[in-house]
Amino acid sequence: MNGVLSGKRIVLGVTGSIAAYKAVGLLRLLTQAGASVHVVMTDSAIRFIAPLTFEVLSGHPVASDVFAGHQEMKHLSLTEQADLLVVAPCTANTLAKLALGLADNLLGTLALTVQCPVIICPAMDGEMWAHPAAQAHAQTLRHRGAVIVEPEVGSLASGEWGQGRLATEEAIMSTAVGLLQCRTDWQGERVLISAGPTQEPIDPVRFISNGSSGKMGFAMAEAAVARGAEVVLVTGPTHLAAPKKVTVVPVVTAEEMLQALTVRFEWATTLIMTAAVGDFRPKQAHAHKLKKDQWNGEGLVLERTPDILMALSAQRTHQRLVGFAAETDHLIEHGQAKLTNKHLDMLVVNQIGGEQSAFGNDTNEVYVLAPGSAPHQIPRMPKRQLADTLLDRILSLPVQPSRQKVVSFPTP
Ligand SMILES: Cc1cc2nc3c(=O)[nH]c(=O)nc-3n(C[C@H](O)[C@H](O)[C@H](O)COP(=O)(O)O)c2cc1C
Repeated sequence: MNGVLSGKRIVLGVTGSIAAYKAVGLLRLLTQAGASVHVVMTDSAIRFIAPLTFEVLSGHPVASDVFAGHQEMKHLSLTEQADLLVVAPCTANTLAKLALGLADNLLGTLALTVQCPVIICPAMDGEMWAHPAAQAHAQTLRHRGAVIVEPEVGSLASGEWGQGRLATEEAIMSTAVGLLQCRTDWQGERVLISAGPTQEPIDPVRFISNGSSGKMGFAMAEAAVARGAEVVLVTGPTHLAAPKKVTVVPVVTAEEMLQALTVRFEWATTLIMTAAVGDFRPKQAHAHKLKKDQWNGEGLVLERTPDILMALSAQRTHQRLVGFAAETDHLIEHGQAKLTNKHLDMLVVNQIGGEQSAFGNDTNEVYVLAPGSAPHQIPRMPKRQLADTLLDRILSLPVQPSRQKVVSFPTP
């Protein structure tokens, strides 16, 4: 990692958690990678670890008091040129303050001024992290664009076992590097991504759908565009904000998704199908709302929706084809069959069902299958980080003999 963050200015916020001492290790990694790190501590953090340690190791004074640096407006200037704000460890208290925008200490005040990416690394007792309040605060911050590096499962300071331990220094470091490194290895690539669920209408108010949130596809789009690709995202209904610089094409049904992808397929150099396309639809969609006193739900006849990946695979000329499979059991077996039947270059298999289901979660762990290679397991990580890991693997796929770079195509 030497030099990978050189020239970067990072503000490291340290709060009053028992894990505060681990921020020292993180500071070492960041400075070894070339970053200039300015530490901001809460009053509680100072009760756990002396500012002197951070001052010596960072080579900069530690800031903790809003009023101490009032002449140079420290409460604003510290983050003015920051490339990144990392809060590690982040207590339940500071998590709540950041979500609410409270500015009753220096860290909270600075957090309201930052223009740069923000990484928040919660550390707390398992019950505190599982509390709906903490989860809601984390979600609010995610929606605002912060990256939450989730705490790990393990033994906690209380002696209990649970999710609450500060993520490892390495995990925080790699998230920081991923956000700060300006990679351009996808430049010149045109990436067509499908995301989210599809909805198949029964009547104008009811439909058949699934629990896909679209998060994985949106993360893939965000990562690909950040690495220089042109990206078109064809998405079923989700609650997610469109990633910047991505052309978003909203669709509802599987048929609409097929049409939207088909017309853009020739343009693409890579197709990434993360969408959870419904396999069935009502044979007949009623034009008027079915009244419950006139219909008891019997006789709803379903038919298969088009198999989008199969259809596009049959039309492939030069594109890389990457599929996603959501399985409840026999992940590798079912995945291998899909990889082979649909002639894919790569298949990402994730598990659905249970608490760690790929659907709706902000993290995911997957198996990557590719023809002629053994299944490769990627451990649980934030979907945005997973997106970068998958993009690395997609780029390293062997080139299809028929795959050529199309010189110029306007974005469809
Ligand atoms: C020994 C000890 C360990 C603590 N560890 C944590 C912790 O890991 N996470 C947490 O959210 N709060 C922890 N707390 C509680 C916080 O220190 C407390 O909520 C404080 O107000 C946090 O202030 P800050 O967010 O401004 O740093 C701990 C308290 C004590 C006394």
